[in-house]
Amino acid sequence: MYNTVFIFDRMGANISDLNLGSNDYPIDVSLPQVPNMNVPPSERPDLKAIANLITDGKAKSIITMTGAGISTAAGIPDFRSPGTGLYDNLQKYDLPYPEAIFDISFFHENPEPFYALTKELYPGKFLPTKTHYFLTLLHHKQLLLRAFTQNIDTLERLAGVPDDILVEAHGSFASARCVKCKEMAANDMIPRCEHCKTGIVKPEITFFGESLPDRFFKCVRDFESADLLIVIGTSLKVQPFASLIDQVDMKTPRLLINREVAGVGFYPFQGFDFTSDRDAVWLGDCDEGVEELCELLGWRKELDVLYAAGHAELKKLWAEEKERAGAVAGKLDDQTAQEREESLVIERLAEDLERTVRLPKDAEESEAWEEKGEKEREERKKAEGQAGEERRKEETERKVMEAVREAQAQEVEIEVTTVIVEVKREEVEVKVETAVTKNKTTTATEEVKPEVTEQEIKKDNVD
Ligand code: OAD
Repeated sequence: MYNTVFIFDRMGANISDLNLGSNDYPIDVSLPQVPNMNVPPSERPDLKAIANLITDGKAKSIITMTGAGISTAAGIPDFRSPGTGLYDNLQKYDLPYPEAIFDISFFHENPEPFYALTKELYPGKFLPTKTHYFLTLLHHKQLLLRAFTQNIDTLERLAGVPDDILVEAHGSFASARCVKCKEMAANDMIPRCEHCKTGIVKPEITFFGESLPDRFFKCVRDFESADLLIVIGTSLKVQPFASLIDQVDMKTPRLLINREVAGVGFYPFQGFDFTSDRDAVWLGDCDEGVEELCELLGWRKELDVLYAAGHAELKKLWAEEKERAGAVAGKLDDQTAQEREESLVIERLAEDLERTVRLPKDAEESEAWEEKGEKEREERKKAEGQAGEERRKEETERKVMEAVREAQAQEVEIEVTTVIVEVKREEVEVKVETAVTKNKTTTATEEVKPEVTEQEIKKDNVD
């Protein structure tokens, strides 16, 4: 089991046994600084500087880290974008909190919301985006050491990123297993296990509270040998994945392509520092960022050909599969009354989701959305010209500084919490002392109990 292997972050802290969603990330700020911090914007790396590293042969072992943002152009909503993200659209599911849909304890109590979501997001109608094909292109150029993804939609596989390069850190829909007897299940939507007959089948997606796949822990060591890290389409809010950006060497350049600034650390050399001479950020739609990077690399045509050929092949394959799928239709007749009732609940919840989140109905629509996006960004770029590029730079600078201020405010919050704990600790000590003094003058044998316990301190702090 690789998840028992210890993984140490750049500061020597152990992050190996963190479950998905765990925020117990240990922080040590004692190591010396390497990149230059707070350099003027003109000295910070940009997309061109990153492209130069590749063309000059300085970046030959690239690791990519991706998230839901690379699939939104295909019609799959991300999780946290205000308004359009999944977590803003699950009100009808009556969840105690939105992430509960991926929480293993909640799933055991109430699996239906998850199956409704699965029904809507199941692979088979979403086509990979330009960004997915960019990963494949990096592989074709023999530059891709690993592609770490948090996505469960299997679009990297469909775009041709090979299994031995890909690390699906949060599992995927590609396989399913019974939660009770752990037997692998056929890759379909039947929630009952055909092996033990009682357990239900869950796609092998990592839920909050579950350990990440063994492959994640095995491949994390590759970060040490990466000479460039490219992070695309993720808010970097979920641990331990988010901390992977600190697994590369302190001098290894890093690039973030995302709609918003993400991953800014509140301690030096923890997280991105876009005011340093090491980390580059490109803000906007990732397909546009990837296209621009490919232009700079002279790869744009190859990217477009790969994308068009990949889509044509997938659409052909799915059309053939659809023709063969007629036989599945009779399945409803074999369902028990309980299964029929569950199916109806799932159907109703899935329809609710369809009403709030607009999803493509088939591969044609997924492709049409991607193409519409491409046309719009080309028209916009043409209309904006050089002025648009200048505005983008100014906007990026403003957003980077805003993120830095937010990160600093977070640091203050943490310090304040520490002070409160210390004050409470002192209070306890004073109370114990008073109690001891009182005790001495009354019954010397009586056990002294502080009025506030350590546990209460922790609880107060959480509240
Ligand atoms: P989030 O929804 O947290 O973040 C998506 C990021 O992508 C946001 O910063 C968006 O601004 C950005 N974004 C969206 N569309 C984009 C586009 N077209 N171009 C560029 N950027 C875009 O998704 P993740 O970071 O992937 O866990 O979330 C991590 C994990 O949280 C997921 O793996 C999931 C969830 O709970 C599981 O499924 C177990």
